[in-house]
Amino acid sequence: MTREATTWTFFACPDITRRIWTRTERLARDIVRDMGGHHIVALCVLKGGYKFFADLLDYIKTLNQNNDKSVPLTVDFIRVKSYCNDKSTNNVKVIGGDELSSLTGKHVLIVEDIVETGRTMQTLLSLLNESRPKMVKVVSLLVKRTPKSSGYRPDYIGFEVPDAFLVGYALDYNEYFRDLSHICILNDEAKEKYKV
Ligand code: IMP
Ligand code: MG
Repeated sequence: MTREATTWTFFACPDITRRIWTRTERLARDIVRDMGGHHIVALCVLKGGYKFFADLLDYIKTLNQNNDKSVPLTVDFIRVKSYCNDKSTNNVKVIGGDELSSLTGKHVLIVEDIVETGRTMQTLLSLLNESRPKMVKVVSLLVKRTPKSSGYRPDYIGFEVPDAFLVGYALDYNEYFRDLSHICILNDEAKEKYKV
């Protein structure tokens, strides 16, 4: 079975990668409008956030450089794990990254791939708030429309997506499919094949 046969493209638009970039550029503009003028620390939530983070930061960097009041933009990384197969576990683990205490007094932009129940982000936000940053904004490329949602909404949202398991563009299923450039729904056959 090829990988193409295990997934199917979610967006009807054939050029999903271009759509992601267009939306990402728009988000970068909104973020610079709201957070510009301050030193921003962009905090990437690994691993799923790395593609969106890299693309978003390229746009923010360009806008920052073209601005007469260009400000420092620094990056930080944190690793969070809550999933096994296609199920969110109640146990959100922060397993890496620098000391959050280095974010005291900073303007922090958390960059996430997808929000489902909202538990991961709520856990991360309460941890981060212990370090007393000056401002925290959250941008998530995707937010799932699901009854499992805790009601948490990020400050910036790329796309709202249906209640299905998505892979590609750094989103994984048990570490598989991060390397796809587009985003797809994983079908049951693939879930069975790659389950642990
Ligand atoms: P939450 O804690 O339920 O909001 O889940 C958020 C985290 O679970 C995200 O950071 C993702 O890493 C992962 N996740 C949630 N839904 C998906 C999905 O459809 N595909 C891949 N990862 C997902
Ligand atoms: Mg994530």
